[in-house]
Amino acid sequence: MARPARMRSIVDAVGQTPLLRLHRIGRDAPNAKLYLKLEYTNPGGSVKDRPALQMMKDAIADGRLTKDKILIDATSGNTGVAYSIFGAALGYRVALVMPANVSQARKNITRAYGTELIFSDPMEGSDGAIRLCRKLVAEQPDKYFYSDQYRNPSNPLAHYLGTGTEILEQVGSEITHFVTGLGTSGTCMGVTRRLHEYHRKIVCVAAEPAEALHGLEGLKHMGSSIVPEIYDAKLPDEHLPVKTEDGWDMADRLAREEGLHVGHSTGANVFAALELAKRSGNGCVVTIACDRGDRYFAPMRWEKQYEW
Ligand SMILES: Cc1ncc(COP(=O)(O)O)c(C=O)c1O
Repeated sequence: MARPARMRSIVDAVGQTPLLRLHRIGRDAPNAKLYLKLEYTNPGGSVKDRPALQMMKDAIADGRLTKDKILIDATSGNTGVAYSIFGAALGYRVALVMPANVSQARKNITRAYGTELIFSDPMEGSDGAIRLCRKLVAEQPDKYFYSDQYRNPSNPLAHYLGTGTEILEQVGSEITHFVTGLGTSGTCMGVTRRLHEYHRKIVCVAAEPAEALHGLEGLKHMGSSIVPEIYDAKLPDEHLPVKTEDGWDMADRLAREEGLHVGHSTGANVFAALELAKRSGNGCVVTIACDRGDRYFAPMRWEKQYEW
């Protein structure tokens, strides 16, 4: 299925993302096929558009999200961008709790849609944002709809219904392996559930930062983090640790060799996918491009008035 040619709302542009064969990077595993699903082509520019929209739609449908409430969640960026876009498009207010040290670009992007930002202690990382968000909601439960991407079953459901189904439509019976990194784990859980329903075994792998202190933004080192409730460690067939420098180096290679300027979690995903491709011999490995690299650039200072 393709995206509709005419759309009534920006929400109609979510999903139906392209799948790209990585020919140059794939030369390192010459008998295998390596595919990258370009989730950054979603309107919010990331893999988080699908779950954010699903969580909002499901909550609107059953009355948890109403116009008099503020949608709140802890997010270091991409989910927040997605809530902000769909909040603006559907007419719901949004507040985001994020560590104070997230990139200025993320802060500016979400504020552009009218979203309120609440900052948590940068030393406590994304777990600090979760703790502060829970405190705010506990203090004023009637004010907020707490979307809670770490607990909300609509998060993995979006990937079960969307990402996973599309992968099967796009590569069909060729696929032997799927791998993706763990943040909330929604992508990994949802896609794995869908692919495991296929009539023969597709090996589904969770990529994880190898170190507790890492530079793979968007990914969680589960051993040292608040473990998301939607995460089931037993669901993936394998867990593959990825070092920060391997993710960063692969992100550089993707820009120079494939013309894909992506974030570092995508670098980690493709590094892991290439490892699996080499190991598989003549397998077909699919992974996810979570977001673009320009999301991590410092923004240009935009002045409303020029001085001559
Ligand atoms: C850049 C980036 N990569 C990867 C992920 C991980 O996705 P998921 O939350 O589905 O595990 C996220 C999620 O926040 C992200 O923002």
